[in-house]
Amino acid sequence: MELIDGKATAAKIKEEIRQEVEQIVAGGGKRPHLAAILVGHDGGSETYVRNKVLACEACGFKSTLVRYEEDVTEAELLEKIAELNNDDDVDGFIVQLPLPRHINEQKVTEAIDYRKDVDGFHPVNVGRMAIGLPCFISATPLGILTLLRRYNIPTKGKKCVILGRSNIVGKPMAQLMMQKQYGNSTVTVCHSQSPTLKQECREADIIIAAIGQPHFVTADMVKPGVVIVDVGTTRVPDATRKSGFRLCGDVKFDEVSPLCSYITPVPGGVGPMTICMLMLNTLAAGKKQYYK
Ligand code: GUN
Repeated sequence: MELIDGKATAAKIKEEIRQEVEQIVAGGGKRPHLAAILVGHDGGSETYVRNKVLACEACGFKSTLVRYEEDVTEAELLEKIAELNNDDDVDGFIVQLPLPRHINEQKVTEAIDYRKDVDGFHPVNVGRMAIGLPCFISATPLGILTLLRRYNIPTKGKKCVILGRSNIVGKPMAQLMMQKQYGNSTVTVCHSQSPTLKQECREADIIIAAIGQPHFVTADMVKPGVVIVDVGTTRVPDATRKSGFRLCGDVKFDEVSPLCSYITPVPGGVGPMTICMLMLNTLAAGKKQYYK
């Protein structure tokens, strides 16, 4: 069994990005600039956004954090989005989710110019991804693809089972794993209403678990040699931690990992890759790689 080290891979990619940025700047080009909008004081969102700003520094990007209190109106937010859309200095930006209930997240997502949508959440990017056109691919699926590729894990013709059908992981992951230019696998998507979920898993060469239930995948559900990507990051109370919680994956790691050829740990697997992929998308935005 080999552990897939997302932390080390992410650090390496950020260093590669930093070097490319220095080359761009040395050649008279523009330093990539990511802006982030954060509404309210949700603990998780604060942490994510802080880490995104730190990652920008590590990559040599310019970053701007725009903060609003919980009571910001949808109109104010949309006005700021229009401003960032029109700001030529800003290459890409994100609106950290979730947003307060009085704000329509879909409306906000669709207000972002898809050419600056480095989260890859805009329907134009989602649609282009689905038909294999150049676009911003959302960070978690892109991070998973990158890990599989960097570890030279074969995916072509493999049976890949995806657990979960969310818009940010399950659905895009299924699209990417099936496409010839990415996974080129045979893909099955299972979810809470799939009666054959266990059987499907037992036949899988690759399992991507993104169901959000701690310890859902057990040893009796996998075949020896399976590759497992664990996307789960459920916070479970843990009084021994300073934060008061620890992250728990969707896979019962202790009993499943001995059966795997490769597995991602939680934490330190997929998690560190996601912010790193946001940086890669921001670099692409700065280079106008997908859209002029
Ligand atoms: N909230 C949780 N994950 C994400 C993400 O990738 N992007 C944004 N904008 N919000 C999030």
